[in-house]
Amino acid sequence: MKNILVTGGAGYIGSHMVLELVNKGYTPVILDNFSNSTRQNIFTIEKITGAKLEVVEWDLKTPLDSIKLPKIDCIVHFGALKAVGESVEKPIEYYRNNVTGSINLISYAKKKEIKNIVFSSTAAVYGNPPTKQVNEDTPTNPVSPYAFSKLVIERVLNDSSLAYGLNVVVFRYFNVAGNVENGLIGDTQLTCQNLIPSIILSHLGIRKTELNVYGNDYPTRDGTGVRDYIHVLDLIDAHIRAIDFLEENAGFHQFNLGTGKGFSVLEIINKFEEISKQKVKYKVVERRPGDISQITTDSSKALKTLGWKAKRDLCEMIESSYKWYKSNFIY
Ligand SMILES: NC(=O)c1ccc[n+]([C@@H]2O[C@H](COP(=O)([O-])OP(=O)(O)OC[C@H]3O[C@@H](n4cnc5c(N)ncnc54)[C@H](O)[C@@H]3O)[C@@H](O)[C@H]2O)c1
Repeated sequence: MKNILVTGGAGYIGSHMVLELVNKGYTPVILDNFSNSTRQNIFTIEKITGAKLEVVEWDLKTPLDSIKLPKIDCIVHFGALKAVGESVEKPIEYYRNNVTGSINLISYAKKKEIKNIVFSSTAAVYGNPPTKQVNEDTPTNPVSPYAFSKLVIERVLNDSSLAYGLNVVVFRYFNVAGNVENGLIGDTQLTCQNLIPSIILSHLGIRKTELNVYGNDYPTRDGTGVRDYIHVLDLIDAHIRAIDFLEENAGFHQFNLGTGKGFSVLEIINKFEEISKQKVKYKVVERRPGDISQITTDSSKALKTLGWKAKRDLCEMIESSYKWYKSNFIY
């Protein structure tokens, strides 16, 4: 069976990938430096699947010359720092971790003749786009060091595909949310700034600060920012398809992954209130620099090429996320 190197495999999205790889009969090899995760997801996956997982504790900032790994058939590269605001304060840390880390990984792939790589990029590469709905041809215009670091890696991968024959799928994710249905694995850190975890963490009192809504004067239907939310399991489905796709398709390929539907901040809060049957306390504050009013994606390229379409809805994202936080952080 195929060995898949999953960088960042202990993190939120990476752990869902590892679980699905095991379920589908692949052999994941996890590489993580645990800078933004713990071993909890790994232990849980071993417990629920009965698999013994191979875990390599390694920091991608260190060249992989002396790393000991089995023969790898494909790399799925999640390992990165991802907080937009923090990247503005610590740009060098972000470029070093994300760009240098990826270059070290790509050099290893070249040396070991690992031909296929799937890379996690972000919708943030579009910055403030000229249209509300984007597709892969929309010009990129990253605003934060985080988004720029991802665009640089995309370019390194594209150039490496041309020069060294690397086969690449780049996925630009929109807002990833939700957890596996039983809520058993997820983001083990409580620092996540994404909206749905922030609502839940504040509401459960795990995060002591009140929930902030950044700006209610955007030109949207209720004045708050509108985003495209995608369930993590739909995202993982696309990655599994990409591994198989790269077996048959050489070159560099790029896809946006979202549902095409936009929800405002207040609509997400209302949906959470409906699901939890409780009121959410929040405070409207100033807009955050760099935030945009609205972005959704057309994912028809992923449908046409990979046969992929998001199947899960907002309720499933909120319910599973709520389950994760309630069952893991409330004692
Ligand atoms: N969560 C989202 O909404 C979202 C949206 C767009 C893109 N992404 C991208 O998806 C990927 C996974 O995101 P996530 O939400 O699971 O984040 P996460 O922080 O939960 O997972 C990232 C993992 O990578 C590890 N890591 C970081 N730097 C490393 C390094 N130098 N060496 C080895 N391991 C390292 C961390 O310890 C962590 O386990 C990231 O690349 C992120 O930029 C996420």
